[in-house]
Amino acid sequence: MSAELKVERLRKVFGTGIAAVDDMNFCIDAGEIVVLLGPSGCGKTTTLRCVAGLEHPTSGTIAISGTVVSAPEAAILTPPRLRNIGMVFQSYAVWPHMTVQQNVAYPLRTRKTHRTERNRRVGEALELVGLSAYADRPVVSLSGGQMQRVALARSLVYQPRLLLLDEPLSNLDAKLRIRLRDDLRRIIKQTGVTALYVTHDQAEAVVLGDRIGVMRDGRLLQMASADELYNRPADLFVANFTGASNLLDGRVLIRNGEFGQVEAGHGQQLSAWLPATIEAGAAVKIAVRPENVRLGSNGAAEPNTFTGRVAGTRYQGTQTVYELDVLGSRIDALELGTKVRYPVGCDVAVMLPPALCWAYPAEATGDGDQ
Ligand SMILES: Nc1ncnc2c1ncn2[C@@H]1O[C@H](COP(=O)(O)OP(=O)(O)OP(=O)(O)O)[C@@H](O)[C@H]1O
Ligand SMILES: [Mg+2]
Repeated sequence: MSAELKVERLRKVFGTGIAAVDDMNFCIDAGEIVVLLGPSGCGKTTTLRCVAGLEHPTSGTIAISGTVVSAPEAAILTPPRLRNIGMVFQSYAVWPHMTVQQNVAYPLRTRKTHRTERNRRVGEALELVGLSAYADRPVVSLSGGQMQRVALARSLVYQPRLLLLDEPLSNLDAKLRIRLRDDLRRIIKQTGVTALYVTHDQAEAVVLGDRIGVMRDGRLLQMASADELYNRPADLFVANFTGASNLLDGRVLIRNGEFGQVEAGHGQQLSAWLPATIEAGAAVKIAVRPENVRLGSNGAAEPNTFTGRVAGTRYQGTQTVYELDVLGSRIDALELGTKVRYPVGCDVAVMLPPALCWAYPAEATGDGDQ
């Protein structure tokens, strides 16, 4: 029932002349959940709307289960209602004058599904989203989270082969968002439907996605598992956007396989992972996640250990951020625990694990702040 989605060289240029989506290429396996993650305005919604058929692409091909539904060059454009796609949006988009059950039954009514079958499927969908007990309630009497469950049930009830979700949790309060986020993955996996999910929230992307695609300015920079994305970001933007906020300037001295010796501040050297394109002599920026910086020596001589000075601390309850002066730069280190271990002004051994230091060309901007 669920479908493979293939997007090739997708491009959408609005009347303004700016490409909102520019040469997007990706494939989602049947039953897979893929999340598009990126800052505001990077083209996530436009991509989703092109797949749904609500937006007419300028060029490129979209195929669902091997059938091309959109190819402007070949004058193919299947209307949205014939694509058999479910959609859930940021706004709850429920029918306010109907009950929960009537809302969920609506797509089956328009498809003229027989009443017995309709009731059975509505029952199943409500069960799936945990709202069986609310079937006869007016939908407007529900909480935001419950309404979004109704919207989800309504988009799953006709068994679409592809489900598109555009920031469905962003109108909910933080606590509810976390709960529904965990539920969403379970529900989507239970139905087996292929899903394309859009968000600018990293935590949501990691919890929900089998794979995550990071977008910037209409382009897909990297699509990979969360593990790969967080441990081998393809470029400085992906590294920075996914939280590798520390940047050290350096110059590559020599390459050893995947790694290289890099000269950083004060003439000190450190070992870092180098993408294939970087050669000796290149000016680089080394990205390191604050949570990968280790403080304090365990006595053993470990690589990439330097003496740093604590310039400041930011106590955050269950964790502490240390601001460190090391290698001629100011970096953050994050430690879990309720006790501050190193006071301001003290010297501390700072270990930067070589496999978790990634060097990128210095000329690229890594402006990944949200
Ligand atoms: N109908 C339109 N006409 C002109 N420009 C548009 C239109 N829709 C979107 N855009 C532009 O295309 C770009 C991508 O917009 P899009 O809505 O896809 O971004 P997004 O990644 O979903 O952002 P957000 O996270 O804020 O929802 C933006 O620069 C936006 O201004
Ligand atoms: Mg959007």
